[in-house]
Amino acid sequence: MKKFLYGIDFGTTNSALSIFDEEKGEITNTIMVPSLIYFPEGQDDEYIIGEEAISAYLHDGMRGRFIKSVKQILSRSSFTETRIGRKRFNAAALVALILKELKLRADKVTGQDCRKAVIGRPVFFDDDDTQKDSLAQSRLEKAADLAGFDAVRFQFEPIGAAFAYEKTLLQKKTVLVADLGGGTTDFTCLVLDPVNAGRRNRKENFLATGGIYIGGDSFDSAFMWEKGTPYFGKNTRYQAVPGKYLYVPKSLFSNICTWDKMNFFNSVRVKNEIEDYYYFSDKDPMLKNLITLVNQNLGYSVFHAIEQTKIELSSRNSSPFTYSRSGIEINELISVKEYEDIISKDFMKISNYLDEFLTTNDIKVKDIDCLFLTGGTSMIPAIRNLFRLRFPDIPLNSGDNFISVAKGLAYSGYLFEEDNKLPPLTAN
Ligand SMILES: Nc1ncnc2c1ncn2[C@@H]1O[C@H](COP(=O)(O)OP(=O)(O)OP(=O)(O)O)[C@@H](O)[C@H]1O
Ligand SMILES: [Mg+2]
Repeated sequence: MKKFLYGIDFGTTNSALSIFDEEKGEITNTIMVPSLIYFPEGQDDEYIIGEEAISAYLHDGMRGRFIKSVKQILSRSSFTETRIGRKRFNAAALVALILKELKLRADKVTGQDCRKAVIGRPVFFDDDDTQKDSLAQSRLEKAADLAGFDAVRFQFEPIGAAFAYEKTLLQKKTVLVADLGGGTTDFTCLVLDPVNAGRRNRKENFLATGGIYIGGDSFDSAFMWEKGTPYFGKNTRYQAVPGKYLYVPKSLFSNICTWDKMNFFNSVRVKNEIEDYYYFSDKDPMLKNLITLVNQNLGYSVFHAIEQTKIELSSRNSSPFTYSRSGIEINELISVKEYEDIISKDFMKISNYLDEFLTTNDIKVKDIDCLFLTGGTSMIPAIRNLFRLRFPDIPLNSGDNFISVAKGLAYSGYLFEEDNKLPPLTAN
């Protein structure tokens, strides 16, 4: 019987699995699934993963529970479980649904129940907090177990990306790899050499690894804050006491800027509070929009519109931010310059972290032969320029932004040879 190993990149936005044929020593197939889960209303044992989750959710008029960016809850100690219908799900159980789907699709291709996998993890699951990090790691281990894997090794995602890039090289190079995804931005600096690909001991090739908890989701949140929330009442005033007008508290709107906080609005107390603001604002139409957003569960569709605008801005000078549903009407042209201002805080954090990473690890620009950028967020021109400016005259390469990590993880199957493990998973 043929032997296979799966390389799994469980991503905030997209997940991918590469099937590695251990006899041939090559990848035979790669499967990609958006990291989305949809639980239709009133059907306790039913859930749908990936692309189909979106169409089913929209088809059902956005009722039921739609879960996006589930990877972000791995490190949240405040998240213990969530009730969906009559069932309760903890973080591992939710993540397991995605891993299970990937395994199922891959097992169909291999015709086997393959239980062996190298699974990626970001360098930091959360802002440099070791407790949260080990919580996330143990939840991911549990999820892999629930999904039916019993021989699992973990590897840093950017190292996965590096190994995929190594396969394309013809000669030895010192490479800075940056993987900019939906949730995190990870760096690794290492010596890649096609002659060494797949060799057992690569310890001396690893120069530095690091990461920061910022990615495309943070950009979308910043966009929602600046451009979306005014349509939901951020700049609206209400009559607090007769004759005295106050702005609706801004803190309320931070809850509609990240996907996972939207549940905050499900509480009756908060719903009543919004109704009060609406009433005392003389029924301001923007607060009406907020009530519609909450009552009709429209969060996903608003964030989808934001993501579309962002994606278009990666290849155009301007792009419309449009939304039209249930009386909520948004139609604004956003220029690249305006977008860059919106994301400037997060952009600076990435830029500062890059400097810190280079300084702390004593990496000089002259030490680097080339850059390899991957991940969806690396397609943003401002991000590419950041690297171009920091490393002038050094070639900037990219591969497939969505599957290179899974491929490289599959190539690192030799991790299973215990006495030749890669450096321990400790971030510097
Ligand atoms: N053309 C584009 N321009 C800008 N951003 C994009 C583009 N295409 C995708 N993205 C963004 O890239 C992110 C997804 O990238 P990717 O699939 O690499 O992340 P991930 O691997 O799921 O996340 P992570 O590695 O952080 O867990 C999303 O935020 C998405 O909106
Ligand atoms: Mg990724």
